[in-house]
Amino acid sequence: IERTFSMIKPDATKRNLTGAITKKLEDAGLRVVASKRVWMSRRQAEGFYAVHKERPFFDELCEFMSSAPTVVQVLEGENAILKNREIMGATNPAEAAEGTIRKEFATSIGENSVHGSDAPETAAEEIRYWFSDTEIVG
Ligand code: GTP
Ligand code: MG
Repeated sequence: IERTFSMIKPDATKRNLTGAITKKLEDAGLRVVASKRVWMSRRQAEGFYAVHKERPFFDELCEFMSSAPTVVQVLEGENAILKNREIMGATNPAEAAEGTIRKEFATSIGENSVHGSDAPETAAEEIRYWFSDTEIVG
């Protein structure tokens, strides 16, 4: 059994899509073992996305992520990391497959409704960034 980190981004929380997105994750067999609503600071956004700090969209990304609340979650299940990436769909909603979260809900490549860890190492790191061990109840 594997764990991954998931985030429902500001564009989605503003449109009241927390439940709709979580339902898609649960319907795919992922279990929400931790969840909280967080309005992150600019500094927290910069820390979370530090790997992207040389990318041209870094400022825009951190501004957006700290512009309204997000919901951070830990998901558990068989192949949770890959499964979550599949349900999310491509980064750019224009390229996302039918039935994916980004196809259904995302409005642009920047405001793309969800984040999901891309590998076991980043999953562990991202879970640790937002949650203490006692907040995760499997
Ligand atoms: P995450 O699950 O959020 O990491 O998405 P990803 O792995 O599909 O994309 P990537 O790691 O390449 O980029 C991280 C995030 O930066 C994306 O989810 C977008 O929100 C944002 N991003 C990526 N490319 C662009 C871009 O060209 N413009 C803007 N504004 N944001 C971008
Ligand atoms: Mg990524």
